[in-house]
This record gives sequence, C-alpha cells and structure tokens, in this order.
Amino acid sequence: MSVLAINGGTPVRSRPFPAWPVWGDEEIKNLTEVVKSAKWGSLHGDKTAALERQFADLHCAREGVCINSGTTALQIALMAADVEAGAEVIVPAYTFIATATAVIEVGCVPIFVDVEAETCNINPVEIEKAITEKTAAIMPVHFAGRPANMDEILAIGRKHDLVIIEDAAQAWGAKWDSLPVGAIGKAGVFSFQSSKNINSGEGGILLTNDSIVAKMARSHANCGRSDDGEWYEHFYYGGNYRLTEFQAAVLLAQLQRYPELHKIRLANLEYLNEKLADIPGIEICRPDDRISDHACHIFVFRIIPAEFGSKSKNSIIHALQKEGIPANGGYSLPLYKQPVFLNKSFGRRGKSVDFPIDYSAFHCPVTESLCNDQAIWLRQNMLLGTREDMDDIVNAIRKVKEQAHTLNEKIS
Ligand SMILES: Cc1ncc(COP(=O)(O)O)c(C=O)c1O
Repeated sequence: MSVLAINGGTPVRSRPFPAWPVWGDEEIKNLTEVVKSAKWGSLHGDKTAALERQFADLHCAREGVCINSGTTALQIALMAADVEAGAEVIVPAYTFIATATAVIEVGCVPIFVDVEAETCNINPVEIEKAITEKTAAIMPVHFAGRPANMDEILAIGRKHDLVIIEDAAQAWGAKWDSLPVGAIGKAGVFSFQSSKNINSGEGGILLTNDSIVAKMARSHANCGRSDDGEWYEHFYYGGNYRLTEFQAAVLLAQLQRYPELHKIRLANLEYLNEKLADIPGIEICRPDDRISDHACHIFVFRIIPAEFGSKSKNSIIHALQKEGIPANGGYSLPLYKQPVFLNKSFGRRGKSVDFPIDYSAFHCPVTESLCNDQAIWLRQNMLLGTREDMDDIVNAIRKVKEQAHTLNEKIS
C-alpha cells in the first residue's frame, strides 16, 4: 500500500470537488426581474409569495411562511405554536447551535437528549426519559437530511400532549414513510443559508398545516401585522424577519434545479454507502425503509477507532484532507458543553443569568463519541461529483485505514 500523503506520499487526488453554490441563467433572470420591477421587498413583490406556495406544495404542507433565517424561523415556530415561556423543549445534543438558542431566545429551556449512533438523530427512548411536567415541546432535527423517527416522536408527543416542531433546516424534500418532512409535526423549519442545498445566502421558511400557526408566524415575522389589517395596525408582538425579493428570486431558481442536483447527490450517497459498508472499521448510517427520501446535506459515516489503530479522529481527518478529500469532523462538542450553556451566558453582553438547569450535569455518551472519536462528514457539494470522485473518496478512506498505524496522534 502506498505511503500516506501526510507522510510524503502521493495523494489519491489533487482535483477539487464541485464548487458550491451552483447557479446559472435562471438565478440571473429572476434577480434582474426583481431589480427592474423596483419591488425589492416582500411586502410589494410577488416572488416571496410564489416561493411560499411552491415550497409548501413540494412538502405537502398547507402553508409556508418565508422568514429571514432558519434560526429566526425556529424562534417564530415556537412562539406561533404557543410554547409558553419557561417550558422545557427537548432537543438533540448533536445539532447546530440554533436548534437550542432559538429555545433560549423565546424564554424556554432547552433539554438536551442523546442521539442514536446509527442515525445521528434524536433517540426516542432518551426523549421519553427526559420528559417532565414542564416539557411542552420536542424539536427533532432531521440531521444531514435524514428524517428523524417521526412515528415514535409523534407517538410520544400524543402520549404526553407535546408540540412537535421539526428542525428540517438540512432536509428539503426529505420524506419519512412517504410523507415530506416539515409539516408532519405542528410546524417545521428549513434554512436557505449559504451552505445549504437550496441557497440564497441567508433565508428560511416555516411550514405548517395549522392555519393559526401560519397566521401567527406571518404576523410575528412582519411586525405583528395582520394580513387583513392596515400597514400601521400592529396586533401582536413581532419583528421584521421578512425575506427580500432578491432572496426569493434566487430561491425560485434554486428550487427549479433542486430535483436534478438531488438525483446526483442521492445516487452518490447510495453508492458511498454501498462501498463503505464493505470496509471493516467504517459504519455507515443504518438503512431504514421508512426513509423514503434523504436530502443528502451531509454524508456522515463513523470510524471505529480500534480499527484505525486508535488514532485520533482529527489525525484521520487530516490524513484524508492531505489525500485530497475535504472531510471534516462536524460538530466537535455536544451542545451542552458549549461555553454559552455551561456559563448560562444568556444575558445582555454575555452575562450569566439565573437559569433552572445546570448544563454541566448533562452527559450524552453517543453524542460525545460522535463528536470526539467517530463522526466524519462530507459536505453536499462533494456528492455532486462523478462516480470517479466517489471512488477517490472510498480509496482514500481505505488507504488511510490501512496506513493508520503510520499516523502519529493517538486518542488522548
Ligand atoms: C440543524 C440546523 N438548525 C438550524 C439552523 C439555522 O439555520 P440558519 O443558518 O438559516 O439560521 C441550521 C443551519 O445551519 C441547522 O443546520
């Protein structure tokens, strides 16, 4: 076997993977239309409304409300779904910070629970254990574009009378048991931030089948106005969380090219799963017939450290990068270990506040081992590559595994 590139050998590849974002004439045409229309805000133009309709239809949801980011859409979802301040909201420990800070932002208390190693999604058994008389909501994340187990989450929600808000920030078009995610629970939220498979730099959308949630979300995002009220009539608490028509113009074009790009990503995700399943020491995510569609935002796999000479995850990732594979380690800490939670820095200028939960007491072993030792991510743009690109990924992983004994850094 050849010498690792990190030790002076020849890398598996030196070509870059496909760049992101992918864009073309359609984005430019739509943007030009908005510029020339002189209707640049969603209060005046029609592109945001068109996007809301198309995106909701794609997800079999009755209503869509565009919001300026996934983060603010999560906050608005919690408010619109009437999750009272002070209530506990169950979230996975393995997720992006916004899932939890949105909960803080609306005056609620995030309770972190562990995920399943085989799916990286919230573990329903751990949800049950975390429920108290203060629990009001569960916020599952469809991590990487793979739907969480909505059968069990909905059943728990029904049993304990809890609101389910789906954090579908990474899961455009994903389907659980043939049903698109987003409006399976009370409401769901998607992100259009730069790294996302549908991208307008920043942006988000909330989906729901509940007309009151939709009405309140629309109002909270639009200064507390009402669709049938006047411009200077403010009925409810709200801010300006609107999308611009420029973003909607780009998103309408991105939405059009989504099926074609999705087909490529999905075929490559399935190919990688098949090839990597044959490598001892690599664990791919557990297949599940109920994943009717995977949004392929991240290709995540786990390494079994003992099979990689007990070398650190970082040294393996570094070796892969030197082979020309831009792998990364993803979330490096369970959210409860972030300084903001340990120090309860939820006050003005980062001041610590009185808070009912001590986050230093949390321990989610699966999340900790995903973060520290096991999970490796490949981003969605890599899945837009060719079959040869995917073979390079597989070959580089094989090479690093076989030569792992030549790496320096052991697990500490
Ligand atoms: C799981 C998850 N939730 C929420 C968000 C927040 O979305 P945004 O960046 O649009 O605010 C993200 C974005 O990365 C995310 O990955």
